[in-house]
Order: sequence, then structure tokens, then C-alpha cells
Amino acid sequence: MKISGARILVPGATGAIGSALAEQLHQQGARIAIAGRDAAALTRLADTCSGAPSRRFDAYDLDSCAGTVTWAHEALGGLDAVVVCVGVAGFGRVDAVGDAIAEHLITVNALAPMAFLRAALPLMPRGGVVAAVTGVVVDLAPVGMADYTASKAALALWLTCVRREQRRKGVHVLDLRLDHVESGFADRAVIGSPPSLPRGQTVQEAANAIMEALKSEK
Ligand SMILES: NC(=O)c1ccc[n+]([C@@H]2O[C@H](COP(=O)([O-])OP(=O)(O)OC[C@H]3O[C@@H](n4cnc5c(N)ncnc54)[C@H](OP(=O)(O)O)[C@@H]3O)[C@@H](O)[C@H]2O)c1
Repeated sequence: MKISGARILVPGATGAIGSALAEQLHQQGARIAIAGRDAAALTRLADTCSGAPSRRFDAYDLDSCAGTVTWAHEALGGLDAVVVCVGVAGFGRVDAVGDAIAEHLITVNALAPMAFLRAALPLMPRGGVVAAVTGVVVDLAPVGMADYTASKAALALWLTCVRREQRRKGVHVLDLRLDHVESGFADRAVIGSPPSLPRGQTVQEAANAIMEALKSEK
């Protein structure tokens, strides 16, 4: 897609990857709407991006995810892309991760991104892009991350099905399957500590990869 002039919503724009992506999109001429949970981070990012429209949501409130899409559609006068960068990590073997944590991981990592994109699909024009960040855990199925991996795998397979549904309509559906990124994400886990990981990509490299993925959709 052509970035310059595109109207793009970034839920999770308050995170490390989401904010780097939002800044790049803004620098390259996109008209962005930014959404996140952390009010101060949203205000800082809006200032950096020439007063981009911003809105708060909580991933636990799926109506607020869908409502954020409607808001962005109105604020930008349409939508050409939605790129969901929301997520939370969780570590530990399944017998150490209770149902409440599992519900948290599935809600934030799967149901909330699905709610954003479900609301966006009827609004997308031909050639529009809906995208969400998953992760290489989907392919690796690492020990000690079953519930996080299951949440990302659910999202990844959902995206695959939606891609097939949208083929005739001409809406592109992207699974941004990132490798480990040095964003501090693992240290903000809702439970447990990360295993020792090889050095990952920088946040800028991850944002560059997402930009390239968006640009390659024609
Ligand atoms: N870093 C990695 O190694 C890596 C690798 C593969 C995939 N990913 C994926 O990349 C995405 C971005 O991760 P990141 O590295 O940028 O981490 P991050 O800085 O921790 O960003 C996480 C984002 O998710 C939002 N979020 C979490 N829980 C939320 C909730 N209950 N309600 C609303 N928003 C919530 C955060 O909002 P606030 O900051 O406003 O609270 C933030 O915008 C995630 O989906 C992650 O799974 C990361």
C-alpha cells in the first residue's frame, strides 16, 4: 500500500513497537489515529505526531476496541489500514499459570485484536490492510510459554481464515509474525520471567519490518 496519505489506526500505539511504527507512519506521510491504554504515553505520542487524534481503550473491554475503530473511521474520514500492536507476555509451565492468567493472555492477545479487526473489516476499502502482530512462538511452541503461545496461535489462525474470507473483497490480511524484539516486552509479563533469549531485533528493526510488510501489499 502507499503509505503517504493513507488513513491508518494503530491500536497499541503506546507500546514500544506500536509507537515506533506510528512515528514512522507519520514521518512518511500517513494520517494516523493512535490508540492505547496509557494516557501519558498517548499524549506524548500525539505531540510527536503533530497532534494525531488519540483515544484510550482497554483490551478487556472488547466493545471499547470495536468503538475505537468507529471513532478512528470518523476522525480520519475513512480507514485504509488497521495495525494492531497490542499484546502482553506470560511465562511459566501450564501448572503454574492459572485460568485467570490464561484468560488474560487470550483476551489481550487474541480476542482484543480480533475485536479491532472484526469491526474494521466492513469499513475497509478494496486494497485496504488489516494486520496484527503475532510472533514466532506460533512456529516454535517453546516450553514454558504455552498460554502465551496459544493466544498468538489463535490469532494467527484466525488471520489465515479471515484472509481467505476477504480475498474476493480485496482486503489484505497480514500476520506480522515477529521474532524476539529488545523492547522490554518480556519484562512486562503478566506472570513469570522470560527464559534466557538470544539477542533480538531492535525496536526500530521491528518497526521497519512492519513498514515493509505494509508497503509490499499491492
Ligand atoms: N517484544 C517482542 O519480543 C515481541 C516478539 C514478537 C511479537 N511481539 C508482539 O508485539 C506487540 C507489541 O509488543 P511490544 O514489544 O511493543 O511490547 P509493549 O511495549 O509492552 O507494548 C504492548 C502494548 O499492548 C498494550 N496493552 C497491553 N495490555 C493491554 C490492555 N489490557 N489494554 C490495552 N492495551 C494493552 C500496551 O498498552 P499500554 O502501554 O498503553 O499499557 C502497549 O501498547 C505485542 O503484540 C507482542 O506480543 C513482541
